Amino acid sequence: MCGIVGYIGNQKASPILINGLIRLEYRGYDSAGISTIEKDGLSIMKDKGRVKNLYNLEGIDDLTGTIGIAHTRWATHGKPAKENSHPHMDNSKTFSVVHNGIIENYNELRKFLTENGYTFYSQTDTEVIPNLVHYYYSKDTQSDELKFLRAVQNACADLKGSYAIEIICKDYKDCMIVTRKDSPLVIGKGEDENYISSDIPAILSFTRNFYLLNDLEFAILTREAVSFYDKDLNAISKKAEVIEWNAASAEKDGYDDFMLKEIHEQPTAIRETIGAKFSETSKCEFDELNFTKEYLSGLNKIYIVACGTAMYAGLVGKNAIEKLCKITTEVDVASEFRYRDPLVDDKTLCIFISQSGETADTIAALKLCKEKGAKTLAISNVIGSSITREADYSIYTHAGPEIAVASTKAYTSQVMLITILAIYFAEVLEINTTTLNTLKKDIMELPAKIEETLKLSENIQDFSKKAYQEKDIFFLGRGIDEAVAKEGSLKLKEISYIHSESYPAGELKHGPIALIENDITVVSIMTDCKLVEKTVSNIQEVITRGAKTLVITNQDVDEKMFDLTIRIPETNPFISPILSIIPLQLFAYYISKEKGLDVDKPRNLAKSVTVE
Ligand code: F6R
Repeated sequence: MCGIVGYIGNQKASPILINGLIRLEYRGYDSAGISTIEKDGLSIMKDKGRVKNLYNLEGIDDLTGTIGIAHTRWATHGKPAKENSHPHMDNSKTFSVVHNGIIENYNELRKFLTENGYTFYSQTDTEVIPNLVHYYYSKDTQSDELKFLRAVQNACADLKGSYAIEIICKDYKDCMIVTRKDSPLVIGKGEDENYISSDIPAILSFTRNFYLLNDLEFAILTREAVSFYDKDLNAISKKAEVIEWNAASAEKDGYDDFMLKEIHEQPTAIRETIGAKFSETSKCEFDELNFTKEYLSGLNKIYIVACGTAMYAGLVGKNAIEKLCKITTEVDVASEFRYRDPLVDDKTLCIFISQSGETADTIAALKLCKEKGAKTLAISNVIGSSITREADYSIYTHAGPEIAVASTKAYTSQVMLITILAIYFAEVLEINTTTLNTLKKDIMELPAKIEETLKLSENIQDFSKKAYQEKDIFFLGRGIDEAVAKEGSLKLKEISYIHSESYPAGELKHGPIALIENDITVVSIMTDCKLVEKTVSNIQEVITRGAKTLVITNQDVDEKMFDLTIRIPETNPFISPILSIIPLQLFAYYISKEKGLDVDKPRNLAKSVTVE
């Protein structure tokens, strides 16, 4: 939901800013803009549409400023249009601001500022910020080096909502100020230069040293240093964290799209996520966790709360936790959970899954569970992300940066990690050793089986050529395969814009079968030996009604029945989703390509949903 970049150093800022925006474009692509401090004051260049449009703006090459801020927008308040693009200036053109988040009380602030003589030129919530900063700045009679910071602090004290903000001022030519609340922002530390970004990968080619700002903290960046202040402007110190991701992992590396690259990175992502947490002969260990048998056996319930794909990973986690640990586990969508007064107390363990660690609803759900006295555990792919800073415990998937909007390697890594977590819980509870040892052995063999599965892409590509013009596609499964059907259906709809639905195969007869008509495509996943015959019967029912069928299986089925059968390697049922989802990721990918769509940046979506 909007990406922001900032640079202060000795190089020309504009190319660095545009380059950073291109890498952040997955966060929103309705408009883009940059603002730099030039010899004659602040400059703003912005336009509707993609970041690359900035290269065509007259005068963009003439910018020489070495300090600047930049923004790529996912529109919330105000339609995608040049006047609503960031950066925004105050009326006197003293301040330039970019903002990611939502100012909830902007109407009230707009009214206040209008009454005080300010005029607004956009429909955005953001435009109140530079004007509010100016309001406080003009009222401050002192003119010391902290006047700019005081004005920003006073303005922020009036804001309700979420924000990551960068501000430059024409009177302070050698610094920029940043602050955040409930929206992501990282500071990259360089040699006589410093960077700002909404996420780490966008500036990974410049530095691996990052400062993380907590909510309501301020930072002043100069070329040489970064100084930090708490909300009352007391100076605080921070240590830079070294991020181990390498810059190449944020590049396409010869693949046509990030999504295809990320699908192929799954063997590595799973290997890295397994890491050294266990061996076939040793117990599972998480350095970050210290759960006891007493605590786990006293739990009334585990909640897994997340959004979208991460929530579907949670459904697979529920299966593992319930079967291996015998603890009732419920999975819920964060945006619903947070508003339905869930039954959570100090005997509930609440697990939150979020690739980005910045999803607003998931963070809010976590805060709610803390208030209700539950212990909270975050699963994220981003070290230092908001969710991991809020939770009592945090464990990480090691998928590396995921750039494509549609999640692939993060999903399979989440499934892997939560399954290992279930093993850890079961071992702490001292149950089921034989099942656990077999599962651990099967997990070790999984990366090689993912590699085998990836080799099946050619048949899927051919089938996609037959299915890409469909209006509706159905996904069916039973048991754990139903959770995979849900994720497969989501992947397809988000990048191909084909309407798709997923159903438990046994539910078909209770209504959805009325939608099956001649030549419609039905995709089915069958990996559970106990349920395969039942699912085959359900597929037979749709074939009778004229459906084309794609079956993903590792079971002994009569392939002649189906239009295409994709045979994935056999594996332990607890981890079969990690293999069975791969053909579905490829199916969605090839359909999207066949339709000539932008696979990595599907319309209306953004990678990180930092607003409700
Ligand atoms: C779909 C997808 C989304 C995310 C969801 C949660 O491909 O990526 O459904 O899974 O927005 O995002 P995170 O995991 O960052 O909280």
